[in-house]
Amino acid sequence: MITRVLKVDSAQPDPAFIEEAAAALREGKLVAFPTETVYGLGANALDPAAVAKIFAAKERPAIDPLIVHLAHIGQISMCASHVPPAARKLGLAFWAGPLTIILPKKPQVPDSVTAGRPNVALRVPAHRVARALMELAGVPVAAPSANRFSRPSPTTAAHVLADLEGRVDVVLDGGATDIGVESTIIDFTVEPPVMRRPGGVTLEQIQAVVPEVVAAVQRGRTDVAQIAPGQLTRHYAPRAELTLYQGAVERMIEQVAADARTMAAQGARVGILAPEEDLLALAPEVAPLAAAGRVEVQPYGSRTDPARSARELFAALRSLDGTGVTHILATSINPDGLGLAVQDRLTRAADGRVRRV
Ligand code: TXA
Ligand code: MG
Repeated sequence: MITRVLKVDSAQPDPAFIEEAAAALREGKLVAFPTETVYGLGANALDPAAVAKIFAAKERPAIDPLIVHLAHIGQISMCASHVPPAARKLGLAFWAGPLTIILPKKPQVPDSVTAGRPNVALRVPAHRVARALMELAGVPVAAPSANRFSRPSPTTAAHVLADLEGRVDVVLDGGATDIGVESTIIDFTVEPPVMRRPGGVTLEQIQAVVPEVVAAVQRGRTDVAQIAPGQLTRHYAPRAELTLYQGAVERMIEQVAADARTMAAQGARVGILAPEEDLLALAPEVAPLAAAGRVEVQPYGSRTDPARSARELFAALRSLDGTGVTHILATSINPDGLGLAVQDRLTRAADGRVRRV
């Protein structure tokens, strides 16, 4: 298949291009499109044959259910059989936006979308291109992140093409996404409602509207990699082996410097992924190693701006991975606000290799 790439202005997308992509969706084809979080790989959610193409293109296991995207909150009853008042309240507060709500599903939602579960995940994206596409398609759109399974989520059309060129019919290129981490998932099929995945809407913002919502860890589970059912541990994984450092900033910096030195001496090619402030502090130790070609450094935002860290995280992971390093040493930011989603994605990428210092 030849992938058709349509460049669109994210503020004022060309209606002809959106209509072409919408028609492709109605014909059962795959369309990658920007949302405010990450790019999605969309198909008509009510067409099981189209949905099957998503799993094939991504090489995603069929046990991992898909989020269904809607044009507006009024379409919620197309897919959900029951909407509790608290879920309605949350949808009204944060849609269109980076929020996903899990509700009991209607029979017309195919089992392949929900991986056999009786519940469906629903989201109304805020990105103009995504909204225009949903509106013109006239069908709910099942869309996971548009990456190959276990690769970091795509925040640009170039990332989508790197993973899926030749496997997707149309890519709407609306530039880099704004938030950079995926939507926050709240499960309303349990009591109290649970945050299954931290994301673009912070837990603090959610709890200000529906105070009953708890984080999965508060229910006694400490492994963040377990919080979304169907989310396999090895997610957002770079090709290089990533170790995540946690603890006081000075201790993380000391330990990363020491470990980079040791590993480089042993012949490894080391990548360091850290907020700008950390890279500045590491520079005296690391510059000679970088000059010798043993170390690559890559910033992801700033300690004072977790939103920027979130926006830059996945692109930073891809870029560092692309340099061919064998190991990545990453320092953590505080898990407040968007920092919680950043920490969650880095923990998954580390796949258990977390070093507390
Ligand atoms: O921001 C986002 O949410 C992006 C954009 C494209 O909308 N989408 C996204 O989809 O991140 P995906 O498939 O990469 O992640 C969705 C997560 C999966 O981990 C899946 O297990 C969970 O949502 N999920 C989907 N449907 C579910 C359901 N019925 N019950 C429980 N978890 C569900
Ligand atoms: Mg994904």
